[in-house]
Amino acid sequence: MESRLLKKWTAEQRISAVKDMFNSISPNYDLLNRILSGRRDVAWRRFVVKRIPANAEKVLDLATGTGDLAIAIAGVLPQARVTAADFVVKMMRPAQLKTRSKGLSSRIEYVAADATRLPFQSHEFDVVTIAFGLRNIPDRLIALQEMKRVVKPGGKVITLEMTFPKNLGLRSFFKWYLNHIIPLVGGLISGNRQAYTYLPESIQDFLTPDQLSELFESSGFRSVQAFPLTFGLTYVHEGIAT
Ligand SMILES: C[S@@+](CC[C@H](N)C(=O)[O-])C[C@H]1O[C@@H](n2cnc3c(N)ncnc32)[C@H](O)[C@@H]1O
Repeated sequence: MESRLLKKWTAEQRISAVKDMFNSISPNYDLLNRILSGRRDVAWRRFVVKRIPANAEKVLDLATGTGDLAIAIAGVLPQARVTAADFVVKMMRPAQLKTRSKGLSSRIEYVAADATRLPFQSHEFDVVTIAFGLRNIPDRLIALQEMKRVVKPGGKVITLEMTFPKNLGLRSFFKWYLNHIIPLVGGLISGNRQAYTYLPESIQDFLTPDQLSELFESSGFRSVQAFPLTFGLTYVHEGIAT
């Protein structure tokens, strides 16, 4: 698939561009998520929350951005304490405001951290989640291995990522939507067209659902499952740490 920005960047350049982009789009990020996904993003995160065991006490939400998944987790699981981490501090500012307005500040802690070098002890968490984050990390294997390191043996890692539906008609519509509508609308509202050109490229460049399942298995997870959502536009993957 065509991938212009990603073709010209090294891994280091991509990481630096990702930081710049999320620094610049944080004020409009939530609004654009709702518009561009037709609010499906809310339902997708809700599905992730349902996959978290009800007795989970310590949850880590990586690449938390504006905190929507961390907030959804803390809202549904009253006993859970959530650590929400991102390497772009500015993305977490709206997260902190939303957390305060929902009265969840005592149960969600925001931490600046790189998902590939986590500042946590081994086996600290019952569950680790990452929504729309893994595809932004060039070394996905290292990221999954870090998640496995910090989750308890028997704990769960859950990812949420967009992908391409298998149905050919939907696939070509989605490709057109990704490559034309997202850069146009995202560029107009955020003022950063590059960020919303990168977004579809990063989806097209990401692993297929089967490849991601294999990566979970080769990172040492068992009972790996993949759940297609919204005609396979999005997938939730989960695995149990051995
Ligand atoms: C598309 S946003 C997803 C935000 C949020 N999880 C959500 O559900 O909307 C991707 C986030 O991943 C963060 N990110 C990308 N690479 C990262 C890394 N290596 N470590 C920590 N955060 C990272 C970005 O800063 C950004 O906030």
